[in-house]
Amino acid sequence: MGTRVVLTFNSCGNCPSCVAGAPAYCVRSTTLNMRGGGDALSHPGGVIIGDFFGQSSFSTYALAHQRNTIPVGDGIDAAYAAPLGCSVQTGVGGVLNALAPAPGQALVVFGAGAVGLSAVMGARIAGCGVIVAVDPKAERRSLAADLGATHVLDPVGANVVAELVEITGGGADHALDTTALPSVLTDALAALRPRGQLAIVGLGAPTADLPVGLIMGRGLRVRGVVEGDSVPHRFIPELIGYHTRGELPLEKLVTTYDFDDFGTAWDAARDGSAIKPVLTMPA
Ligand SMILES: NC(=O)c1ccc[n+]([C@@H]2O[C@H](COP(=O)([O-])OP(=O)(O)OC[C@H]3O[C@@H](n4cnc5c(N)ncnc54)[C@H](O)[C@@H]3O)[C@@H](O)[C@H]2O)c1
Repeated sequence: MGTRVVLTFNSCGNCPSCVAGAPAYCVRSTTLNMRGGGDALSHPGGVIIGDFFGQSSFSTYALAHQRNTIPVGDGIDAAYAAPLGCSVQTGVGGVLNALAPAPGQALVVFGAGAVGLSAVMGARIAGCGVIVAVDPKAERRSLAADLGATHVLDPVGANVVAELVEITGGGADHALDTTALPSVLTDALAALRPRGQLAIVGLGAPTADLPVGLIMGRGLRVRGVVEGDSVPHRFIPELIGYHTRGELPLEKLVTTYDFDDFGTAWDAARDGSAIKPVLTMPA
């Protein structure tokens, strides 16, 4: 009782992915996180859909599972802990766990929202020598620079590939896409140096035409990344450590709203004026 926690994605714990320490790729992930409708909640009037992302937590009390309930201790503000369970672990983990750049390498992040800006912070933690954030929104580019991007680029009207090749001195070692835009995926691949790798993180891209000859000829690697390859009971405490040491200034991403202002928070998320809106429940 009284333990402070954050909730994150659920996983079964028994499938080959979970046993191999890759719960983000749990074979039951879709059922456990996206379908809802678990039998934890019931009402005489009919079915209650719940358990989205293993929790459905827009409420004063939430039913969750041991595997997706992570103790966070007393050292972090609840509003800053909240996004650790999804966008922050996705961005930071996409860099530290999935791409794992060596110190000094060049990394480009496409899209400077909550996930992309977390990736920028991850790249800084990893000691990347060149960190480029690409985003059409000036205020997001400015925040990216504040969080550790060595260069920022407005893609509108720019020759993105040429500029990135120039900035990185011949192509990036790593790229991480959060936009899910096919044209951006193509640019991201073209901006990699031979043997570079692209992490696809953005959701919702339709099928994209991939430059197969380029991927083959340059020995590029393309991989999807879910939730930053996180093992939440290990990685979320690691993220809190970075925050405590000032390396993950979550306060620069988060805007809080009273729960009653749900509509305002939603609008701010949709129009991009808030990077990471967090709802606070009544005391
Ligand atoms: N793979 C996962 O496990 C996982 C987890 C969480 C979120 N996501 C997904 O990651 C994506 C990013 O999430 P977010 O919260 O940061 O979203 P967001 O909308 O805040 O950020 C996307 C950014 O892309 C920018 N953008 C638009 N067009 C661009 C272009 N042509 N070039 C470069 N940037 C461009 C936008 O201005 C915006 O800042 C979403 O698709 C989300 O669903 C994936």
